[in-house]
Amino acid sequence: MDRFRTLGHSDIKVTAIGYGCMGQTHSYGVVEAEQDMIDLMRYAFEVGYTFFDTAPIYGEENEIYLGKAVAPFRDQAVIATKFGIVNESFFSGDQEALNSSRASLLEQVDASLKRLGTDHIDLYYQHRIDPKTEPEEVAETMAELIQAGKIRAWGVSFAPEEYIRRAHKVCPISAVENMYSFVARKDEATYFPLCEELGISYVSACPLAKGYLTNRYPAGTKYREGDWRADINLFKKEGIDQNRGLMDLILAYAEKKNATPAQIALAWEITKKPYLIPIPGTTKKARVKENFEAVNVELTEQEMNEIETALAQMDIVGMHR
Ligand SMILES: NC(=O)c1ccc[n+]([C@@H]2O[C@H](COP(=O)([O-])OP(=O)(O)OC[C@H]3O[C@@H](n4cnc5c(N)ncnc54)[C@H](OP(=O)(O)O)[C@@H]3O)[C@@H](O)[C@H]2O)c1
Repeated sequence: MDRFRTLGHSDIKVTAIGYGCMGQTHSYGVVEAEQDMIDLMRYAFEVGYTFFDTAPIYGEENEIYLGKAVAPFRDQAVIATKFGIVNESFFSGDQEALNSSRASLLEQVDASLKRLGTDHIDLYYQHRIDPKTEPEEVAETMAELIQAGKIRAWGVSFAPEEYIRRAHKVCPISAVENMYSFVARKDEATYFPLCEELGISYVSACPLAKGYLTNRYPAGTKYREGDWRADINLFKKEGIDQNRGLMDLILAYAEKKNATPAQIALAWEITKKPYLIPIPGTTKKARVKENFEAVNVELTEQEMNEIETALAQMDIVGMHR
């Protein structure tokens, strides 16, 4: 299996599995210590990862940690960060927290560059669309930032298909970042064909379904205050019970391939499509290595078909709350 993928029509090469930084400071009720995370990301690079995903809304430490971690090998690291969500109030439904106007973007990009301690961002995603700004205007600003050398390529996250088509015409999009995993497959019928048609990479967020697919979070697990999983059905007894068939399937393949469930979840993605790039996140060194080593798990065409057939017969509980 090819361990590298090219982002859309750009000349940016990344490893087939990237590293998601979010959990270091967001969503799991913890802000990890700076030096620990710098050491962890340098270890990730040693293990083989070259693709790192952050965002300002993950807490400003998130970009700062990443920038410091990759500074010694900046040219070999591909940094993806994001724009468009300018306030934490977004998470409680505030639409005013969305801003992708040109004036705001010029400020947002400079603020990210400063926190990252670098002179360019490799991949700059619109984190969420701004209903007040047309896709063409955003794409024009992206073209301007590429021209200025501040970003190398751009992408979108959770943008509607029509929005992607319109923006792509003005300044080609290199990557879509949406949620995809064994428990979140609806994009197969929508965004996958779109990515194929337009030659866009699909970066899969939460590829381990926030850890659920690792089979290491049994019912009754106590989550820290602020850990979103406490409210997600998938992690509750009913969700775990309903998905028993899925977990049995993953465990059977883990045994057959002498791999862990996390590795099966990731190997399945990178085998499925040559443009899929999962970006699992972890704050643990051993898991950094475990997750990356999924690139060594070979799933044959027949096995992929068997998995597909089995999944089609399951009524899977997803990531909703
Ligand atoms: N664009 C968007 O809107 C968006 C939304 C969500 C996420 N993302 C991106 O996607 C990345 C990944 O998402 P995510 O962190 O939410 O979910 P994830 O990668 O599916 O799962 C991460 C969780 O699983 C645990 N974990 C990871 N590897 C494990 C292993 N081998 N065994 C047991 N547990 C393991 C981690 O805990 P430990 O730290 O304790 O190992 C963490 O709690 C984020 O970092 C972010 O960059 C983007």
